[in-house]
Amino acid sequence: MSFRFTVPALIAAVVVACIAVPALTQESGSEAVAGAGDAIRGRDLSYTCYGCHGIANYKNVYPTYSVPKLEGQHPEYLFAALQGYRDGERGHATMHAQASSMSDQDMRDIAAFLAGKVIEPRTGGAGVGTAPGAAATCVACHGTDGISVMEIYPTLAGQHEDYLARALHEYKSGARKNAIMAGFVAQLSEQDIAELADYYARQRPSLSTAKHANWFKAH
Ligand code: HEC
Ligand code: HEC
Repeated sequence: MSFRFTVPALIAAVVVACIAVPALTQESGSEAVAGAGDAIRGRDLSYTCYGCHGIANYKNVYPTYSVPKLEGQHPEYLFAALQGYRDGERGHATMHAQASSMSDQDMRDIAAFLAGKVIEPRTGGAGVGTAPGAAATCVACHGTDGISVMEIYPTLAGQHEDYLARALHEYKSGARKNAIMAGFVAQLSEQDIAELADYYARQRPSLSTAKHANWFKAH
């Protein structure tokens, strides 16, 4: 390599280093860049969430079903879910109360923390066991293995079976409002819902109960 090419390359490297350092400092500080979640700030804001989301197999009562697993879920979906509770697309008294007190940035930061070690969206993963016939339309977004193919689609792998069934019933009754899912659940029978919930709950790698310990191990 000639001297003529090495000098510009060196200059470029120095310029990149100078830009990169302030950018990293900004992201890990409390003034997170818009759109990104600051997990450190989120940790301080999410203490109350662990009373339910941090306890394995914790149940909602009246009606009784498992509190959803959040760890591994994509933060982009968690953010959308919190907005849904705040804006009334999803009805749940506690979650509405929690979300109503948060700014958008609070939601992003909390989502970044609670998600922990995210199972990155992917396509083409083989499923565990045989997918029920009704899953044929689901796999385009949620994957055959329950790992979503895009950040905005929730990962279903290993989620509590009763929570998955509950969510599908909520879309079907219109209690949970989402134009995409409303179309896909309309034709599902009770048996389809039971089989889909059972199938997706068995997929791996699994979502899990949010745990501080896991987060620290993962980062
Ligand atoms: C009293 C128990 C309780 C507490 C405290 C609680 N949650 Fe929840 N959360 C639930 C239940 C139950 C659901 C499922 C509600 C439903 O059916 O939509 C839920 C759902 C969620 C969802 C949607 C998950 C999904 O897969 O769609 C998110 C995100 C969430 N909670 C975040 C939080 C955050 C953030 C906090 C703290 C600020 C929090 N929760 C505090 C019980 C709780
Ligand atoms: C075009 C993409 C798409 C297809 C196809 C699709 N979904 Fe979804 N699914 C979504 C989106 C987007 C959401 C989040 C909606 C919301 O915010 O409530 C969702 C949410 C869900 C949830 C709630 C997860 C949670 O954590 O609360 C379940 C369960 C679910 N889908 C199952 C299915 C099943 C079963 C099928 C097939 C019958 C299916 N989906 C087809 C996009 C899709």
